[in-house]
Amino acid sequence: MALLEVRGIGRSFGGLRAVDEVSFDVHAGQIKAVIGPNGAGKTTLFNLIAGSLRPDRGTLSLDGRPIHGLAPYQVARLGVCRTYQNIKLCANLSVLDNVLLGRHRCDHTGLLAGMVRLGGVRRREQQQRQKAAELLAFLGIADWAEVDAANLAFGQQRAVEFARALAAEPRLLLLDEPAAGLNMRETAALADLIRQIRDRGVTVLIVEHDMSLIMQISDEIVVLSSGRRIAEGAPRQVQQDPEVIRVYLGEEDA
Ligand SMILES: Nc1ncnc2c1ncn2[C@@H]1O[C@H](COP(=O)(O)OP(=O)(O)OP(=O)(O)O)[C@@H](O)[C@H]1O
Ligand SMILES: [Mg+2]
Repeated sequence: MALLEVRGIGRSFGGLRAVDEVSFDVHAGQIKAVIGPNGAGKTTLFNLIAGSLRPDRGTLSLDGRPIHGLAPYQVARLGVCRTYQNIKLCANLSVLDNVLLGRHRCDHTGLLAGMVRLGGVRRREQQQRQKAAELLAFLGIADWAEVDAANLAFGQQRAVEFARALAAEPRLLLLDEPAAGLNMRETAALADLIRQIRDRGVTVLIVEHDMSLIMQISDEIVVLSSGRRIAEGAPRQVQQDPEVIRVYLGEEDA
């Protein structure tokens, strides 16, 4: 059984079918990519999987258990965590506190940010802090633990986002364009990092426009265009798919 089964999932906004009856599997231990031109429905698909959007149709299951219709925090509790296309950190909290928020719960709000500093969490804090510090070390940002997230460079903020998502010990990690805004050196480090995350037993589903990164790290690729799945397979296979080539060449013309 696949870790994640996506079956005929769909979501419209008004008359626009942002995700149109998409099906695919993500197997445990894989790095699987979702690619496609701007507006193809990739982020919408992630929002459907993570529970921040409800599907109009279709089903999602994690280890055979239906997850469509669950709230984001419930999906998170079942082990699905994410990073965002637009980094979402609590700017006025330290790096360490941002990561502690992730341990508390994947999805985070201003309210939760406040709670980290209050009673309930404090009892377990020592142990939690140690795990968070380990993650910061893993991501190479240990020196920044006490700095406010707002004061970090962009690439470091991305690393904090990774640490926060990993802090909840996900089984499935959704990464939405993690290489966006990174330079070549940072992107190469990201490729290593994603492989290391997979090697720690976390299954990865990644949306990314950086084709060389995707071709390097993915076991399998799903291609979306105008909300529909137009291809799926191994990187080399997808790269040679006439429909995929047509869609990407069309994008270049535009
Ligand atoms: N909340 C929303 N309300 C209305 N339309 C939306 C909403 N979210 C997404 N869309 C539309 O759905 C389509 C798919 O958007 P989505 O953000 O999923 O694309 P994407 O593949 O992630 O694109 P990109 O590569 O630019 O991030 C787009 O046409 C977008 O304008
Ligand atoms: Mg997107």
